[in-house]
Amino acid sequence: MSGSHQKRILTGDRPTGPLHLGHYVGSLQNRVRLQHRYDTFIIVADVQTLSTNFDHPENLPADVRQVALDNLAVGLDPDSASIFVQSMVPQIAELTVYFSMFITVNRLKHNPTIKTEAGQYGFEDNMTYGFLGYPVSQAADILFCRADLVPVGEDQLPVVEVSRFTARRFNELYDTVFPEPEGLSGDTARLVGLDGQAKMSKSLGNCIYLSDTTEAVRTKVMSAVTDPARIHRDDPGHPEICTIFSYHCAFNGGESADIGERCRAGTIGCVACKKRMVQVIEELLEPIRMRRAEFQRPGMVDEILMAGTERARTEGGRTMDMVRMAMHIDYFEERDRQ
Ligand code: TRP
Ligand code: SF4
Repeated sequence: MSGSHQKRILTGDRPTGPLHLGHYVGSLQNRVRLQHRYDTFIIVADVQTLSTNFDHPENLPADVRQVALDNLAVGLDPDSASIFVQSMVPQIAELTVYFSMFITVNRLKHNPTIKTEAGQYGFEDNMTYGFLGYPVSQAADILFCRADLVPVGEDQLPVVEVSRFTARRFNELYDTVFPEPEGLSGDTARLVGLDGQAKMSKSLGNCIYLSDTTEAVRTKVMSAVTDPARIHRDDPGHPEICTIFSYHCAFNGGESADIGERCRAGTIGCVACKKRMVQVIEELLEPIRMRRAEFQRPGMVDEILMAGTERARTEGGRTMDMVRMAMHIDYFEERDRQ
């Protein structure tokens, strides 16, 4: 069990479907690596999912469990990381309200992540209050447990910036309650999609999922976009524009320089290069599949989520005591303030 002196991590995902390799390089890998050095909380952000999917709540029960299972499968250890459900921690909703009193609409409107995502969803001229405010709610996700470090994909760093500002501003306005949480993104800034688009993303349908079968991995990799200049096996290639090469850089670091040279020299064919990639991804996914099978016993994920949620609520209660005292809204508490 982690001691309270340890620094804390909070991070997590929206339950919108299975997690993919982009999530893995952006955030999952860091959370697994750091879970024993930090007291780790993993949020399954179901409320945040409603910021875009409010008209499809029926998928949440399955997606919440899917995301929790993906986290366990990549190696999050429920004995050292508390995995919990956002909607079941009322202190997060409370904090969101208090933070929303002092975060300005302008700050949210100009947030780079909000702008990009609003474009992707076609929300530019018709944005809900909840969507615009999701960085405030995310600040509450992070600060309800007074987290210090937030491993996220690169595209989420501007949202973490709002959390930093929120912590700083709260501390200035009322009293020092929160650390300023730091964002940490993975070494691979963002993983290109199988179709060569800038980002692996569920809505673009260009993902390799952590839960994909061997057959699915093979089919996807073998049909991925490569350098169009390579028609014959010995045509000189341009690895820098090739999706498969970027995967070699992300997952096959040791060999990638050599593969790049051989591609340029026309001494490795795309088929061989892709077959090697299939092997590399399979080596990564195989232990993930084994752990998934272990956690797939009936009721196990639910139990882990309930225990994690219980712990999150306890921590949220402690934070809210401090928040109420700092904000002078603890009217009926006995205390010795003059
Ligand atoms: N917004 C994050 C994403 O889309 C998910 C998320 C919700 C999150 N709450 C969080 C990430 C708190 C880090 C910390 O990936
Ligand atoms: Fe891409 Fe490999 Fe083909 Fe080069 S050899 S274009 S890196 S798949």
